Amino acid sequence: MDAQALENEALSAIEAADSPDALEDVRVQFLGRKSELKLALREVRDRETGMALNAARERLEAAVDERQATLERAGRLDAAEGLDVTLPGDRPPLGHLHPLTQIMREAEDIFLGLGYEIVDSREVETVWHNFDALNQPLTHPSRSPRDTFYVDDNTLLRTHTSTGQIRVMESRQPPIYIAVPGRTYRRDTPSPKNTPVFHQIEALAVDRHITLADLKGTFAHFCRAMFGDDREFRMRTNFFPFTEPSVEFDMTCFLCEGRGCPFCKHTGWYEMGGAGVVDPAVFENVGYDPNEWSGFAWGLGLDRIAAQRHGIPDIRMFWENDLRVLRQF
Ligand code: DAH
Repeated sequence: MDAQALENEALSAIEAADSPDALEDVRVQFLGRKSELKLALREVRDRETGMALNAARERLEAAVDERQATLERAGRLDAAEGLDVTLPGDRPPLGHLHPLTQIMREAEDIFLGLGYEIVDSREVETVWHNFDALNQPLTHPSRSPRDTFYVDDNTLLRTHTSTGQIRVMESRQPPIYIAVPGRTYRRDTPSPKNTPVFHQIEALAVDRHITLADLKGTFAHFCRAMFGDDREFRMRTNFFPFTEPSVEFDMTCFLCEGRGCPFCKHTGWYEMGGAGVVDPAVFENVGYDPNEWSGFAWGLGLDRIAAQRHGIPDIRMFWENDLRVLRQF
């Protein structure tokens, strides 16, 4: 056997192979178990011939590998040329709005449907807008730095969205129909119903002859739009310095449907927020004549609304960013 001639013949066949299949045929022909080279190797008796044939085998194997890489590269280029850019692409994974943002927008939509205006108010506030103008007595415990985050003596993180009422009333004349959604801050220990950062939606209606009945009817509409017809709510008396009379709204607990369970402390009810008829002292603080104007206001906890809507027993879950929870909404 002429080893050199065989090697030359094999090399040109490898070079001529124009597809992976053709290359495989060439490999079997020249390097397969029954190839001339392999048979010759099996019969080798002297060291020199053995070394020469093995070296030829190694060179041929390397040539096959190299040709294979070249053919694969060319194949990929062909595929790219055949790319149809009009085909739909792979959709990148899309997130969605946080459940609290969704609820806030739904609440805004309900107010917009009633003809209210949505107002964005500030989160860093003055003591005047958060307490004084709202008729909060100097002795009220919520003024303490133990309850409220102060930036300095006169500046704080708003503890409720009621500040938005004052800001709007200071800047325009009635009639006023507004809702102020947003973040609020209190030095509360996190618990299933409280977090130091939370959300409220404030409602304020100021016009002639507004009564508690308007408040109740508006709240009933809000609840039905948010929760459907099946849930019950109740209005019970309470006290806020900025309303007279003042009420608190409760909803039947979603867990036990009002029968009473550990979550609602066996009352069957879950507190949603405070409301009332605007106190004449507040109108005086913003320069309105309390004999001419009357109004109602409320402040509802949005995190609690979201908890009630989705049956979430602990509002801290909204803050944990566990995607297994958030993806459900
Ligand atoms: N600001 C009160 C709170 O955060 C809730 C509230 C009560 C808002 C009565 C009002 C209101 O507008 O009239 O607890």
